[in-house]
Amino acid sequence: MMNSATHAPQAPSGPLYDYTLSYEENRENAPAESQRLDLEPAQGAGRTLFGMPIGYPIGIPASPLTVNARWIRACAGLGFNVLTYKTVRSRPRRAFPAPNWEFLPALDRPLPVEDIKRVREAPSVEQPENPHAYSMANSFGIPSLSVETWQADVAKALEELRRDQILIVSVVGEYEELEGEDLIDDFVEVARLAEEAGAPIVEVNLSCPNTISDSESSMRRPICETPDDAKLIVERVRNALRPETKLVAKLSYLRKEILADVVSGIAPHVDGIAGINTLQVLLEDRGGEPIFKGTLKDSESPRREGGLSGIAIRDFALSFVRSLAELRREGGWSFEIIGMGGVMDAHDVRALMASGADAVQAATAASNNPGLPAELLNGGTSPDEDDPRLVCVVEAAVEDPRWRYRTIDGIARQLLLGRDRVQHILDEHPEIARKSVMYDREGRELYTAPRGPRGFREQFERLRLLLAR
Ligand SMILES: Cc1cc2nc3c(=O)[nH]c(=O)nc-3n(C[C@H](O)[C@H](O)[C@H](O)COP(=O)(O)O)c2cc1C
Repeated sequence: MMNSATHAPQAPSGPLYDYTLSYEENRENAPAESQRLDLEPAQGAGRTLFGMPIGYPIGIPASPLTVNARWIRACAGLGFNVLTYKTVRSRPRRAFPAPNWEFLPALDRPLPVEDIKRVREAPSVEQPENPHAYSMANSFGIPSLSVETWQADVAKALEELRRDQILIVSVVGEYEELEGEDLIDDFVEVARLAEEAGAPIVEVNLSCPNTISDSESSMRRPICETPDDAKLIVERVRNALRPETKLVAKLSYLRKEILADVVSGIAPHVDGIAGINTLQVLLEDRGGEPIFKGTLKDSESPRREGGLSGIAIRDFALSFVRSLAELRREGGWSFEIIGMGGVMDAHDVRALMASGADAVQAATAASNNPGLPAELLNGGTSPDEDDPRLVCVVEAAVEDPRWRYRTIDGIARQLLLGRDRVQHILDEHPEIARKSVMYDREGRELYTAPRGPRGFREQFERLRLLLAR
């Protein structure tokens, strides 16, 4: 077993995906076995996700990196523990013509969280200079192999995982071609097929942008933007699955008012909510020409819209996870949150965990920086104890409304930081946390938000100590 304190695991170099090749060529060309690392965080034992044992809850969402059992084996070997099998369908569908996935190196910072309709940037297949600050554009059209093929492959993928790793299978109904009851029936069918293949957790993809019907020229908006449709699909899928099969709904970024509507409809039926997907925007090069070209019918037709991922969408994801965690608390729900979107380094993983995520996934960064889990185990990217970003995530963890009081061990475990580092930050920054006069059952110190109200037990304990003086 590797321990973060004693061995620094070797970070492999990326990228995993070859952006100059087609989707199919990449699918058949999984990363080499030599990159396999067996990582186990020292603080890993005892964690669960959906009631199942899990190592540190970092993983890879539905993407070409999780397209089949060979890719999943490779990614699991790199230390990604929560793997979502790329979205499958009830009937086969080809990918859009290549290129499908390109860098937007000049888009090197988070975009403000507002309605973004168009991105005009020079695309490239070259690795950007700064490995932590770039965005990407993609348009694949959610291709799928035949049901028999993916079902057999899902069964294989399940065998590739360690006991503390989990596989979620993402499914989508034929929403380019079907509507109403027919679409719901198709979601139900594909979810049951995934369950039949052995999936312990099924993720209904209500966030699919980037698809286009044979008869239309523009992309449809993600299903989750219509709360009633999201509710109907989730409810019907839940009723069709076995009670022990866990159900996750994947959403795109939604403003809090719409998210609240969606959550109130689906929360009673799901075990988890995942998000965000890529942002669906018009993607153009600097000359205003579409970045992607060619549909399944016509190789010359432009595909004007596509999915934006990477650092550009980081603040959308943070805002989404924060809102979701607030809605979970306000509604008294217990669904788990799988946060993703713009996670570029270990710090971003911690920021989403401290904002309420129970697990974090990365697609863009996993492809280009497959050493991300190793980076986390090594204590983050910055050796500087006073990294201001670390102070902020520790502050967010102290304020996490799931806990009124926090122990140093709890924060260290949640953020995968050394205990000494958390202690140092709390000692050096009394403005972010107040040490309570109380201790937990094991005699450990308790910290709470500096301006938070003192609970009855704490007031009582304070009085008792004053009187005892
Ligand atoms: C190339 C690519 C393909 C993707 N395919 C799917 C998909 O099939 N189903 C899905 O739910 N999300 C898909 N996504 C979205 C990711 O799962 C994830 O939500 C999104 O990329 C945000 O994370 P990131 O910024 O770490 O990439 C895809 C993303 C990328 C980059």
